[in-house]
Amino acid sequence: MNINGKPTRTILPSSDGQAVDIIDQTQLPHRLAFLRLRTLAETAHAIASMQVRGAPLIGATAAFGVALALREGVALEAACQTLAATRPTAVNLAWALARMQAHLQALPPAAQGEAAWQEAVRIADEDAAQNRRLGEHGAALLNEARRPGKARLDVMTHCNAGWLATVDYGTALSPVYVAHEAGLRVHVWVSETRPRNQGLLTAWELEQHGIPYTVIADNAAGLLLQRGEVDAVIVGADRIAANGDVANKVGTYLKALAAQAAGVPFFVAAPRSTIDFACPAGSAIPIEERHGDELRLCLGLDGAQQLASVRQLPSASAVANPAFDVTPAALVRAIVTERGHCPASGEGLAALYPKSRP
Ligand code: MRU
Repeated sequence: MNINGKPTRTILPSSDGQAVDIIDQTQLPHRLAFLRLRTLAETAHAIASMQVRGAPLIGATAAFGVALALREGVALEAACQTLAATRPTAVNLAWALARMQAHLQALPPAAQGEAAWQEAVRIADEDAAQNRRLGEHGAALLNEARRPGKARLDVMTHCNAGWLATVDYGTALSPVYVAHEAGLRVHVWVSETRPRNQGLLTAWELEQHGIPYTVIADNAAGLLLQRGEVDAVIVGADRIAANGDVANKVGTYLKALAAQAAGVPFFVAAPRSTIDFACPAGSAIPIEERHGDELRLCLGLDGAQQLASVRQLPSASAVANPAFDVTPAALVRAIVTERGHCPASGEGLAALYPKSRP
C-alpha cells in the first residue's frame, strides 16, 4: 500500500540478504521512521517491543529473524526458541517458525542460510497475496451488509488490522481498501484501542489512502452500534481456534457483544496462518500480559513536537494489562480468509481447509 503516495511494504528485505528494513511502529502516527534489523537480537527486540506488530507481520518478521540468525552463525533451534519467546498470542509467529524449521532441518548447514532467506521472502510474498484475496472476498460481504437505501457503507473496526499489521493490504482493512478501490463510499469508525492506541495507526493508514474515518474512544462503540450508525464490524485475529473462537486485541469481545445486541454483523478477517487447528477452543489460547507501564504512561508529541511520554498513573498503582481477549464463535457472523468465508465453527473452518484438521 502507499505512504505519501508511494507504494511500500511494512518489511523490506535488503538486496544483499543481510538485513530487513521495517517501519518503527512505536513512533507512528507521530513520526514515520524506518529501522534496519541485522541480527537475531534486533529482530526479537523489534517484535517484543512492538516496533513490528500485528499477527501476520510478526510471523513474517520472525521468518527473516531466522535467516538473519543463521547468517550470524546462531543454530536454527536456538534462533527459533529466542523468537518464539517474544510474544505468545499471535499464532502466526509459531506458524512461521515451524514452517522455517520444516523447510531447513533437512538441509546441510551450509545451505541453510540462503534457503532461509528465500523461504522468508516467500512467506512475506504469500502474506501479501493472501491478504489481497481475502480483501476481495471480504468486500463482497461488507457490501451485502450495507443497510438498504444507504449510499455509504459504515464499518467499525478495532485495533490495527490494516496493512501495517501485515506485509501488505491488511486483514480487516483489506476489504475496506478493495471496496474503496471499486468506487464504494466507505467510512470507518476507528476505536482508539487503549492502552497502545493501535487505532491511531489505523487512522494514519486510512488517511494515507484517502478513506474517510472517525476515531472514537473505545467506550463509544456500543452507543454507535445501538444508534444504527454501523453496518458491519470487521476485525482481524491473532489466533482462531479450531472451533471458531477468536483471540484478538483486548476490547474485541465487547464490540462483538454490542454488535450482537444491535443486530449488526461481526466479521473476522485472517489468513490461514492465523488459524490454529491444534488449538481446540478459545480457552486454550495463551493471552499475553503486557507491562503495566503501557497503562501508566501515555506517548505523544510535546509542545516542541518531540515524542514524549507522560505519566498518568503513579508507578505504584496496581494495573492489569491483558493484551487480548477471546470472542466466542457464536458472536462471529463469518470468518473471511484468502479462500472465501465460512461460519465460525469447526465445520466451517474444516470445509475451507479440508486437509488441515489435526
Ligand atoms: O498487539 P498487536 O498490536 O500486535 O495486536 C494486533 C491485533 O490484535 C490485531 O487486531 C490482529 O493482530 C490482527 S492483525 C492483522
